[in-house]
Amino acid sequence: MAGRKLSRGVAVVGAGMTKFGTFRCRTSRELFVTAFQEMLASVDKGFDPKDIKALYIGNFSSDLFESQGHIAPIMADWVGLTPRPATRIEDACASGGVALRQGMIGIASGLYDIVLVGGIEKMTDLPGEKVTDALGTAADAVYEIPSGFTFPGFYASMASAYMHAYGATPQTFMKVGLKNHENGALNNKAQFGQRIRDIMEARKASAVKKGLPMPTWQTELDFLNDDRGNPMVAWPMRLFDCSPVSDGAATVLLVSEELAHHFTDAPLHIIGTGQGSDGALHSRSTLTSIPSARVAAKEAYEMAGVTPDDIDLAEVHDCFTIAEIMATEDLGFFAPGTGGKAVEAGETARTGRHPINTSGGLKSKGHPVGASGIGQVVEIWKQLRGSAGERQLPGNPTLGLTHNVGGTGQTCTVHIFERR
Ligand code: COA
Repeated sequence: MAGRKLSRGVAVVGAGMTKFGTFRCRTSRELFVTAFQEMLASVDKGFDPKDIKALYIGNFSSDLFESQGHIAPIMADWVGLTPRPATRIEDACASGGVALRQGMIGIASGLYDIVLVGGIEKMTDLPGEKVTDALGTAADAVYEIPSGFTFPGFYASMASAYMHAYGATPQTFMKVGLKNHENGALNNKAQFGQRIRDIMEARKASAVKKGLPMPTWQTELDFLNDDRGNPMVAWPMRLFDCSPVSDGAATVLLVSEELAHHFTDAPLHIIGTGQGSDGALHSRSTLTSIPSARVAAKEAYEMAGVTPDDIDLAEVHDCFTIAEIMATEDLGFFAPGTGGKAVEAGETARTGRHPINTSGGLKSKGHPVGASGIGQVVEIWKQLRGSAGERQLPGNPTLGLTHNVGGTGQTCTVHIFERR
């Protein structure tokens, strides 16, 4: 079925991001300025930033992480764009994806021609238990949190349901982490930009240096199956199944399609957008899929007039390794129950049939929650323009997709980008 079309097309003509990681001495506004400056430098033909007419900023909880609410005008001020309208978008970890959609709607409606969309989160100023509490506010405070779950626990329950339904094992999930660290090792913006083998060898060397017994790990799976290398967080999710706590910012410049050639000869056209919502985890008929992702994907594919097999690469929301597997099924790359086998068979590697998370994903690149959805767009920008360096996919990819989930799946956005 043909989907709805935007009243006028929208293109990405610039993109930039900070490294994701732990930046104790930098405020979120400073991170945002860095991402903005990189975006400015990426606009091939240059432009006057004063031409930006509005800002949409994805941010989950600067209130809890930094004791700073009302963050959008601060970002506008720090990049010299006041008195332009600046709006904060909060949809948990999907804040960036929803901000992108709102920026598109602003242009498609005819209200604006040039819009800055950003994402920002500064999580590491709080101790770990406070971060867990803050993240918990993205879950349902009546149904989900009182049952004693944290986010690793929610996704662990999806992982155990997936194992029960489809015969997956913890090693299936480990393969996602191995792949994403492999990709992240080629991304200088990644928080954990190391292969798991390199992390394992570093731990062995550190044990020798400290005079501790030498671990007997020979392979990455030895390391990942050992509590000393890879402690259990919430069974079956171990440390290397979890995205980290991160700081970071990312920005993209959106313009109406007819103006794009003033900025670059190689814009990305956003040809599909989709968004879905859902209730709490207990109300779902399945734990092995995120229904809001299926809704968002259907809307985006129909608008774009493409099928999952047309997509050359996707950045998906791997907040936990199980989430990547479910995403590849919800997006239609693999049939239900076969996403785990596809990872094991290398089909989601850079050399595979459906390359997933070439940036390293949230697992390796990092997950500053409000910035993650825009960080995904930055990777698609690089890959579709042939500027992803060592991790560049061969064969001139032309269609890329982003999938950004909030909470346990209460929100999901999907966007499809085309380089013509
Ligand atoms: N993957 C790999 N290594 C990680 C890691 C991760 N996700 N998180 C931390 N580490 C490493 C650190 O670098 C550190 O290594 P070192 O001892 O060699 O220096 C070590 O593990 C301990 O780091 P620490 O920050 O103390 O970890 P922690 O135990 O406090 O937190 C998690 C680990 C997994 C609990 C935490 O990262 C987390 O809560 N992640 C999920 C975040 C989340 O829910 N986001 C929203 C999703 S919807």
